[in-house]
Amino acid sequence: MRKEFDPDAMDATAVYRLLTSTVVPRPIAWVSTTSADGVDNLAPHSFFTISCASPPVVQFSSVGRKDSLRNIEATGEFTVNFAPEHLFEQINATGTDFPPGVSEFDAVGIAREPGRKVRPPRVAASPVALECRLHSTVLLGDSTVVFGRVVHAAVSEAVLDGDHPEITKLRPLTRMGKNEWGVLGEVLEIRRLPYHEWSGTGATPAG
Ligand SMILES: Cc1cc2nc3c(=O)[nH]c(=O)nc-3n(C[C@H](O)[C@H](O)[C@H](O)COP(=O)(O)O)c2cc1C
Repeated sequence: MRKEFDPDAMDATAVYRLLTSTVVPRPIAWVSTTSADGVDNLAPHSFFTISCASPPVVQFSSVGRKDSLRNIEATGEFTVNFAPEHLFEQINATGTDFPPGVSEFDAVGIAREPGRKVRPPRVAASPVALECRLHSTVLLGDSTVVFGRVVHAAVSEAVLDGDHPEITKLRPLTRMGKNEWGVLGEVLEIRRLPYHEWSGTGATPAG
């Protein structure tokens, strides 16, 4: 038996809770921006994914109008900093609703590193920075989806195996429902079979 839910008959908070507890785990974009007045902003966003690899475009959603969104609309630039496990408390602290004139970098004590192609600073301790120029926004109900063209990527050599960012070194944090966060579990590997190798079971052929 399943319990059936009709989103149209539910209040918005209940729908939010259902979606954020079932679309899991979500990666966290730790988005840095700089306001038109020069205040550096930093905030986590877990409504985040890749939109396109060619050209490279990522997206996140601002639920409501927040400083990150306003800064991106004003300047056309942002950086997605990777959210690693060891920065758990700092990432959460930057989710506090500081007023626009207060920089989360300073309030939380997070060291900056200059960007290469965009003005917003990178988080120095984060292993990956994806520097983005605003591609477009889409207004969806109470949210705005922000698409950013990745114009530069910087990856710490400490997490690289050759040119490949190694998952056990990256140690991503993820967001789930309620106040739940996830860390990296067991990593499984399997090759996707082309149809000409399909055996009827999906099992990888021996040899
Ligand atoms: C792990 C985590 C994920 C979050 N994801 C989102 C999100 O996807 N969209 C959003 O609008 N707010 C999200 N928030 C809340 C924002 O980070 C929070 O409202 C923040 O104060 C916004 O900062 P800003 O006004 O400086 O942009 C998240 C918070 C946390 C801690």
